[in-house]
Amino acid sequence: MILSFDTSCDDTSVAVLKNDHSYSNIVSSQNEIHKKFGGIMPEIAARNHIQMIYSITEEAIKKADVTMEMIDYVAVTTGPGLMPSLLVGVSFAKSLAYAYNKPIIAVNHIEGHIFAPFINRALIFPFVALIVSGGHTHLFFVKGVGNYELLGKTVDDAAGEAFDKVARVLNIGYPGGPVIDSLSKQGNPYRFNFPKGLSKKNTLNFSFSGIKTAVNNLVKKMQSLSKTDVIDIAASFQRSVIDVLCEKTEKACTEKGVKNLVLSGGVSANSLLRESFKIMAEKNGFTLFMPEKEFSTDNALMVAKAASLREADATYDYAKIEADPRFKIY
Ligand code: KG4
Ligand code: ZN
Repeated sequence: MILSFDTSCDDTSVAVLKNDHSYSNIVSSQNEIHKKFGGIMPEIAARNHIQMIYSITEEAIKKADVTMEMIDYVAVTTGPGLMPSLLVGVSFAKSLAYAYNKPIIAVNHIEGHIFAPFINRALIFPFVALIVSGGHTHLFFVKGVGNYELLGKTVDDAAGEAFDKVARVLNIGYPGGPVIDSLSKQGNPYRFNFPKGLSKKNTLNFSFSGIKTAVNNLVKKMQSLSKTDVIDIAASFQRSVIDVLCEKTEKACTEKGVKNLVLSGGVSANSLLRESFKIMAEKNGFTLFMPEKEFSTDNALMVAKAASLREADATYDYAKIEADPRFKIY
């Protein structure tokens, strides 16, 4: 039984994994707080983690109907992420583990996303994984737990970051991903042709800063935007990003000769992206694994899942567990 924490970014999350079909997973979103800034303020995120973490932990334990005595391991995201935010979760988890004499497991946040689709499913290796979030756009060849080959990554903005920045330019709200996702359903995705960064180049790397600039320039040029203009820009932007994500991932699977495909991270909650990946997987005979939408965005249950695959890393040497904003898994 694992009690897990994720405070890598702006969401405070605590989960209890009892077994693959029984768990609690509490996520306290800070979206309302960061909305007015149009992005995450690290210092403010950390302060809110401090305010929330105790009550969220009580809630997760209560909902799972367990006591601290019943917990076998404590697990916590130690990186990558925002240092002030990570420090809150790491300090809290370490204190709790020490007080109750429980071993602790340090988890990499990206590894959490990689295994999120397997929260209530059997694990299959090898697979190609596209992790698309607010901070990451990474393509991995996953041969086993801890055995990751980086095939490609963004050379500038992450895909989720591009959604958030474009939403800010269009003045439609924060976080941008869910707003663009729902607005685009009524828009014309072929009205504007935005650049598809690095799509013509023979590389599995991505680039999303060009499309963000193109949207910015178009908005300046058009001066005043009607509601239809905004919706069409959102839909056209979303189509271009999804086309590139699909094309590169398909190429990665073909090059590696891999039939299992994982799509995960916050942006994997996007309905068109999920649909496009389903179609691409079906066309190629790939088996596609995606997290339930609630496990696409940041949550502590994926941290518990990753920890459950790393029991050998559990330690009572609490001094060894440190926040590391640049914690790499490849
Ligand atoms: O994984 P996540 O919760 O946090 C990070 O690790 O970064 O991802 C958050 C990102 C944000 O950029 C948000 O706009 C994006 O995921 N996102 C979406 C959707 N839901 C969240 N992007 C596109 N469509 C969505 N439905
Ligand atoms: Zn994340």
